[in-house]
Amino acid sequence: MIFSNWLPTLLGGALVAQGALAAIDLSINDPNSIKQAAKTVATDMMTYYNDRDSKAIPGKFDGTWWEGGSMFMILIQYWFLTGDSEFNEEVQAGMYWQKGDDNYFPSNYSQYLGNDDQVFWGLAAMTAAELNYPEQDGQPSWVSLAQGVFNTQAPRWDTSSCHGGMRWQIWPYQPGYTTKNAISNGGLFQLSARLALYTGNTTYSEWAERIWDWSATTPLLKQKNWNIADSTTCETQCTDHGDWQWTYNYGTYISGAAYMYNFTNGTQKWKDGITGLVGSSSQFYPTSGGGNILSEITCEPINKCDRNQITFKAYFASWLAFMTTIVPGTYDLVMPKLQTSAQAAVKTCTGLSDGTHCGIKWYTQTWDGTDGLEQQMAVLGVLNAVLVPFKNQAPFTADNGGISKSNPNAGTNSSDNAVPQLNNITTGDRAGAGVLTVIFVTAWAIAVTWMIRGG
Ligand SMILES: *[C@@H]1O[C@H](CO)[C@@H](O)[C@H](O)[C@H]1NC(C)=O
Ligand SMILES: *[C@@H]1O[C@H](CO)[C@@H](O)[C@H](O)[C@H]1NC(C)=O
Ligand SMILES: *[C@@H]1O[C@H](CO)[C@@H](O)[C@H](O)[C@H]1NC(C)=O
Ligand SMILES: *[C@@H]1O[C@H](CO)[C@@H](O)[C@H](O)[C@H]1NC(C)=O
Ligand SMILES: *[C@@H]1O[C@H](CO)[C@@H](O)[C@H](O)[C@H]1NC(C)=O
Repeated sequence: MIFSNWLPTLLGGALVAQGALAAIDLSINDPNSIKQAAKTVATDMMTYYNDRDSKAIPGKFDGTWWEGGSMFMILIQYWFLTGDSEFNEEVQAGMYWQKGDDNYFPSNYSQYLGNDDQVFWGLAAMTAAELNYPEQDGQPSWVSLAQGVFNTQAPRWDTSSCHGGMRWQIWPYQPGYTTKNAISNGGLFQLSARLALYTGNTTYSEWAERIWDWSATTPLLKQKNWNIADSTTCETQCTDHGDWQWTYNYGTYISGAAYMYNFTNGTQKWKDGITGLVGSSSQFYPTSGGGNILSEITCEPINKCDRNQITFKAYFASWLAFMTTIVPGTYDLVMPKLQTSAQAAVKTCTGLSDGTHCGIKWYTQTWDGTDGLEQQMAVLGVLNAVLVPFKNQAPFTADNGGISKSNPNAGTNSSDNAVPQLNNITTGDRAGAGVLTVIFVTAWAIAVTWMIRGG
């Protein structure tokens, strides 16, 4: 063992001198090597964060709001898995600045947010609670912030069409208001399941079960073949489907099912869901990567991934990895492919002058000429994933090591829950509304067109 580790290091050193080898070394069985790689990737990611135009506002990204929550979620995992607290100050500053009325629905942006945007911040706070991320005095607890998101989202459950479901967008003037999509429903499903396990409160598990069961009545969760459609519409009573396949849609339902499995002491229903959805997500390991390298198959082969989509693999990889700590028997199902994916991912990190910036398409195992915060986030997510077995610690819960204090009423007294006046919304707000909205409406329209053409 010692010899075989030592030889490639020597060879690697020689090749690096000639500029012919990936600048980030990774020994998949050596946690210190993975931590070092993660540190390099995270450091480059934070350079983008600190250089952004809106850097005066903690946690606010240029042209998007939700990515702040998802990046902090990945950095909170990173801290837990590596012990490196270098980025904690920025993470805490952003997580608290954007908390709104303890519900991650801050009035600056709430007029144009979707349920999916908000829920990612809730999932970040939940992650912080489960991993005992440091809290600051005078601030609400992490778990209460997650509860605040739950408390603002659950009342939006919409029975006026499809007998239930979360709409994608929150306000009637938003394009996407008449859509019900997988990430909004799967996101609240996952948040509810995690709150159930952390707090033990069955209100949350009842909601998780309600969302899962409702999803299964629509194309958002087809139990026949375990396919997850991206979206469906109120107009058709949720019978049509935009079928684009995204890793994070699968990841969010798989993760929620994992928490429910554990919370219910191993119920078959959730085991079936996990097995089924992990099985159908094998599509995300296409033959272009030898069947073992994670790929965003809908956009990567055609070079059309937008900034949101570039990050999805981070969530899929890290959520599935944490599943292995609470659902026995899933390690062999998911970890080997995450490991080959991590090895491929860092091989793309040879970009720009420092030779460590990552690309989008891991299966090419070379830098693809693109760079950005999102590329770094995706690779950091899969490096977190392969660190999970070394830490080998399940998420803490309130009665098993968790220090974050529950407040079931958090976020319920917020004026931001009232429908805003349309004429108060400035053009600037609408333009900022996101890349997410515009792209997804377009994507959804195209997907539905396909579906209709396909008959
Ligand atoms: C809201 O906008 C103001 C003005 O740009 C800014 O100072 C403040 O930090 C923003 N708040 C949040 C939560 O982003
Ligand atoms: C799971 O098992 C524990 C310990 O036996 C029990 O207290 C708890 O009520 C069970 N949970 C469920 C959801 O059945
Ligand atoms: C839930 O997760 C804990 C922590 O890993 C584990 O000890 C327990 O066995 C799990 N429960 C079930 C039903 O698998
Ligand atoms: C459980 O959660 C619900 C919903 O937030 C809340 O109304 C209830 O008081 C909670 N129960 C306990 C025991 O905390
Ligand atoms: C709700 O907010 C209003 C306005 O800030 C405040 O006067 C009231 O005391 C709050 N109620 C609760 C229950 O926190």
